[in-house]
Amino acid sequence: MSKIKPSKGAPYARILGVGGYRPTRVVPNEVILEKIDSSDEWIRSRSGIETRHWASPEETVAAMSVEASGKAIADAGIDAGQIGAVVVSTVSHFSQTPAVATEIADRLGTNKAAAFDISAGCAGFGYGLTLAKGMIVEGSAEYVLVIGVERLSDLTDLEDRATAFLFGDGAGAVVVGPSQEPAIGPTVWGSEGDKAQTIKQTVSWDRFRTGDLSELPLDSAGNVKFPAITQEGQAVFRWAVFEMAKVAQQALDAAGISPGDLDVFIPHQANVRIIDSMVKTLKLPEHVTVARDIRTTGNTSAASIPLAMERLLATGEAKSGDTALVIGFGAGLVYAATVVTLP
Ligand SMILES: CC(C)(COP(=O)(O)OP(=O)(O)OC[C@H]1O[C@@H](n2cnc3c(N)ncnc32)[C@H](O)[C@@H]1OP(=O)(O)O)[C@@H](O)C(=O)NCCC(=O)NCCS
Repeated sequence: MSKIKPSKGAPYARILGVGGYRPTRVVPNEVILEKIDSSDEWIRSRSGIETRHWASPEETVAAMSVEASGKAIADAGIDAGQIGAVVVSTVSHFSQTPAVATEIADRLGTNKAAAFDISAGCAGFGYGLTLAKGMIVEGSAEYVLVIGVERLSDLTDLEDRATAFLFGDGAGAVVVGPSQEPAIGPTVWGSEGDKAQTIKQTVSWDRFRTGDLSELPLDSAGNVKFPAITQEGQAVFRWAVFEMAKVAQQALDAAGISPGDLDVFIPHQANVRIIDSMVKTLKLPEHVTVARDIRTTGNTSAASIPLAMERLLATGEAKSGDTALVIGFGAGLVYAATVVTLP
């Protein structure tokens, strides 16, 4: 018989507050067109993107996270000192160690909160949310801060016409805490590592460690290109459209609700055509508000869902207590979908 006493967590968990940070600089498609052969019309019609935000040197991963988190903490009505854990999902923090989460936890004034980073690409927010819910119900933390943050402009090859227009920068954060009723449904998540090649970094950092930079791609000025995110756009598009609609439906089934019970749909903001296709496949009724934040934010990977959530609530398109389906998917390939009650 075990000598360990059972841990005392909350019966359920819920999102209590959300906050976002968008870098000051707004970048229209015209700026992207300086380096690639394309058109504003093509970018808008094929991806839905009109503008995106690019971070300045001062708008670091940590700085953007602190801004977004401060708003989420205020929105939740708690003090930073009550936060027991900080989970940061990012692929664009360029220091291998320590985790950026510890700096953020310190700058926010948490009381030595547990802090760590995760790498789950565009599914990172759902992965973080799932961890947070587990910690709260299990009793390791009363409040958990989940942050999705990216500076994807640092990992974009502006001369690659297949990706140059896609990515943006920003941070979104939520505070997750105890609840007396279910407010975060079961997560349907997974990975398909056999498709890892479809979204990847052009060159491994290892090539720079060995100093052998021969045969690496060069930019138009003849310099070795900094590693960037590259993808097989059509393969990812097909996977997202066909497979992710099924995962979204499974998340609805797991939560025990039908599309008609939803108020809001917040998919990862990768391409407005993927979003529209999912809405059709899921047969979402007219009354469901659909996040199309991609138009002015681009694809901000782990930050896209909390940023879109924050904007829908700020504009009044969604309201506190609404039932929302969130689904993230991307590099790995990985995915995570769940139904939540909005803060
Ligand atoms: C990237 C994406 C917008 C490209 O759209 P697409 O319709 O698949 O475009 P394709 O790559 O099939 O190219 C279609 C045509 O446009 C051309 N094209 C490609 N990029 C272009 C650009 N920037 N401007 C103008 N034309 C372009 C191609 O050369 C091709 O021309 P062709 O028909 O004469 O051969 C789309 O594939 C996509 O969004 N993929 C998924 C992204 C995603 O979900 N990522 C999630 C993980 S973060």
